[in-house]
Amino acid sequence: MNMRAPRGTQDILPGISEKWQYVEQKLIELSRCYNYKEIRTPIFEHTELFQRSVGDSTDIVQKEMYTFTDRGDRSITLRPEGTASVVRSFVQNKLFGQPSQPTKLFYIGPMFRYERPQQGRMRQFVQFGVEALGSNDPAVDAEVMALAMNAYRGLGLTSLKLVLNSLGDRESREAHKNALVEHFNPYKNELCSDCQLRLEQNPLRVLDCKKDKDHPAMESAPSILDYLNDESGKYFEDVQKHLQAMDIDYVIDANLVRGLDYYNHTAFEIMSDAEGFGAITTLSGGGRYNGLVEEVGGPETSGIGFAMSLERLLMALEAEGIELPIEDSLDCYVVALGEKAEQEAVRLTYNLRNAGIQTDKDYTGKKMKGQFKAADRLNAEYVIVLGERELEQNAATVKNMASGDQIELPLEEITKYVKQELGGRE
Ligand code: HAM
Repeated sequence: MNMRAPRGTQDILPGISEKWQYVEQKLIELSRCYNYKEIRTPIFEHTELFQRSVGDSTDIVQKEMYTFTDRGDRSITLRPEGTASVVRSFVQNKLFGQPSQPTKLFYIGPMFRYERPQQGRMRQFVQFGVEALGSNDPAVDAEVMALAMNAYRGLGLTSLKLVLNSLGDRESREAHKNALVEHFNPYKNELCSDCQLRLEQNPLRVLDCKKDKDHPAMESAPSILDYLNDESGKYFEDVQKHLQAMDIDYVIDANLVRGLDYYNHTAFEIMSDAEGFGAITTLSGGGRYNGLVEEVGGPETSGIGFAMSLERLLMALEAEGIELPIEDSLDCYVVALGEKAEQEAVRLTYNLRNAGIQTDKDYTGKKMKGQFKAADRLNAEYVIVLGERELEQNAATVKNMASGDQIELPLEEITKYVKQELGGRE
């Protein structure tokens, strides 16, 4: 019996889950600043959606999808990425018909890829991503990159590199594709079997091959930037101008090929150059995907977006030694001894919680001393003691654990008092 979590997945336990919450909250706030609204789509979709959008010849579709036949004999796939689902939803819900365009959306959720697990590469990972649909303005490309960079900067990361490329429009890519085939054909037999097929089906993918990456023909391969037509060249220049206007540094890498087929024009990745980040240095990636909406059955619509995994973001924070300001304390702990006190403790704890005060008590039958120790371990700011003597007078003692000050108060005044004290703290 295998009772361990499947390979490439992880449990996120208390102590770490607070970091996830913190980071997610920051990303939600950032999205709000850029006016991106949240979309939640299903975790599984019809397999065909990913075949058509991510692309039949990509590693993701060929080797990495969790695909199964459901009880209704449909081929279903756990989403390997978010863009396809967002585009599907955009079409299905006719978001293109809404007056305010572009439609700017963000998402946070689990994605699934059957990859060889290693540090920073999981089989279930969480992506934060944004998609802007319905504008062909290069300023939107720059906006998405600015948002992506600031997601990291806002958390304190500095060892970042924005790598940029243009894949041009269809005409430019066609010209480049022919040049690639001409270039690689003489070496065809030296390339891996996958690349031999790629050369026929999708030559650009050869540049992305992990096996053949050191083949001498790779370095001398024709650059897409030499094949951009006037329109694509101008688009690429405009994107760069907007990045410069925001003082966002970038480097151009003509070999940057993304692992998904839907891209054209802008393609980018953000890398970490922090020491100790590990072998995989890509933090996030994205690009423009004009034409994808039509592919999924919608009207002609431009789109651009990016996604990052939170796993790699948290790894980068660790590599740069950034501590997140996570609070690990409790507002209030109620200490009680005896049956009557216990009943009062239940009532008081309930009342405190109803007033929005974070409160806990003992449920393991500890003695008074043990309860105080527990309060200490939980970093309680206030301890309320329900002793026999106090209870006889319908009162309890409130102790400020930092100063050691304590005050005896009638039971009905406790909640108000603690709330006031805590309010003064903030
Ligand atoms: P992607 O480059 O396949 O693009 O993935 C984006 C990011 O997801 C990666 O840079 C990385 O942070 C994270 N990621 C991918 N695979 C794994 C994994 N196995 N384990 C941990 N993290 C991983 C996309 O998914 C596109 N949908 C991005 C996009 C949005 N393009 C336009 N809009």
